[in-house]
Amino acid sequence: MQEIKECGAPFAATYARIHSACFKKGWNEATMRQMLLMPGAFGMIAYEDSNPAGIIMYAFSPGQADIVALGVLPEYRGKKVSDALMDESFGLLRKKGVSEIFLEVAVDNGHAIGLYERHSFRTVGRRKNYYDRGDEKIDALVMRADL
Ligand SMILES: CC(C)(COP(=O)(O)OP(=O)(O)OC[C@H]1O[C@@H](n2cnc3c(N)ncnc32)[C@H](O)[C@@H]1OP(=O)(O)O)[C@@H](O)C(=O)NCCC(=O)NCCS
Repeated sequence: MQEIKECGAPFAATYARIHSACFKKGWNEATMRQMLLMPGAFGMIAYEDSNPAGIIMYAFSPGQADIVALGVLPEYRGKKVSDALMDESFGLLRKKGVSEIFLEVAVDNGHAIGLYERHSFRTVGRRKNYYDRGDEKIDALVMRADL
């Protein structure tokens, strides 16, 4: 059974565990707690049979939100966990008065770009050398969607 729950700073360890499993430079628990305590922070965790499977995190201000993290544990990928996280969170953001969403994604992350395009995101810009992967730097696409 799948559940999507709004979760704040007390869940920093879960956010950190999933983020670190998804990104080379994962954010630790202390960083996550700080981010989740910032004004305008909003996050949701997807649970599959009560096990944490994926996260989405935003920073939002009146009218606008930015996706700051989206990740699904490798063993739960390809099962549309991200779709559920996006659909649920978009509904709650709409209620908070958000009408547009922005995000950055690495130009070589085809799976994520495809997912965002399915959710009506379109490319509106490109940031040169935005991601530092240690051995290489990679550009980011800036994507935007109306909510
Ligand atoms: C991108 C990501 C969030 C997608 O989550 P998801 O819940 O697997 O999303 P979906 O089930 O909708 O699958 C999206 C695509 O990923 C593919 N995919 C990625 N990894 C997969 C895996 N291990 N098994 C099966 N499919 C996988 C799916 O086939 C699908 O591809 P398609 O759109 O080309 O058909 C997840 O792969 C992830 O956490 N990646 C690492 C972190 C990341 O890149 N986050 C986004 C940064 S902006």
